[in-house]
Amino acid sequence: MVRIRFATDGDRAGIFGVHESAFGKQQGPEIVDLVSGLLGDRTAMPVFSLVAEIGGRVVGHVLFTAVRLQSGPQSISAQILAPLAVSKEHQGEGIGGSLINEGLKQLAASGVELVFVLGDPDYYRKFGFRPAKVLGYEAPYPIPVEHEDAWMVQELKAGTLGGAQGKIQCAKTLDQPRHWHE
Ligand SMILES: CC(C)(COP(=O)(O)OP(=O)(O)OC[C@H]1O[C@@H](n2cnc3c(N)ncnc32)[C@H](O)[C@@H]1OP(=O)(O)O)[C@@H](O)C(=O)NCCC(=O)NCCS
Repeated sequence: MVRIRFATDGDRAGIFGVHESAFGKQQGPEIVDLVSGLLGDRTAMPVFSLVAEIGGRVVGHVLFTAVRLQSGPQSISAQILAPLAVSKEHQGEGIGGSLINEGLKQLAASGVELVFVLGDPDYYRKFGFRPAKVLGYEAPYPIPVEHEDAWMVQELKAGTLGGAQGKIQCAKTLDQPRHWHE
């Protein structure tokens, strides 16, 4: 049975193993570095780090970190989902979806109003995300026109979309062009 819960310090090795498995030899080390950096980055706080566990073993991980809107009349509580991974042998079992849905539930309960993601639009659409650029939200680095739909947002508090707009400022660790290609 799959259990979704908040990650603890003791999960670090398991979490890194999941990203190595999901992203492979080429991209895995970069993602492990990203997760490790974000977990110790004060500008990323508050972080929401959730794991999926089967029989005491971590098989999935999702990380949400704080972002800010550079302009806008009121202050908005916003987060970004990055990264998400499920171990190769457990992909396609609904674990990624469970991690996203539980994460969104926890964020909403904490008063987070907007959540951003850069990823496969066909996948993230299933969980309520919509293209963000047309709604007035600019990514920290330009997203090529052909992948524009990959930059997505969803509101967790009704009426937030259409309020504060502009360019998103992410945590220092994530604020590097190499993390912003899709
Ligand atoms: C992407 C990933 C996290 C999805 O997790 P998962 O547990 O395999 O996905 P789920 O089983 O929850 O899939 C939920 C739904 O999305 C679909 N889906 C899965 N991957 C998809 C993709 N890349 N594009 C479109 N749909 C996808 C599934 O078919 C399923 O559809 P259904 O609900 O209609 O049956 C996982 O495959 C993974 O770790 N991939 C490698 C790392 C990666 O690319 N991470 C995302 C970028 S940060």
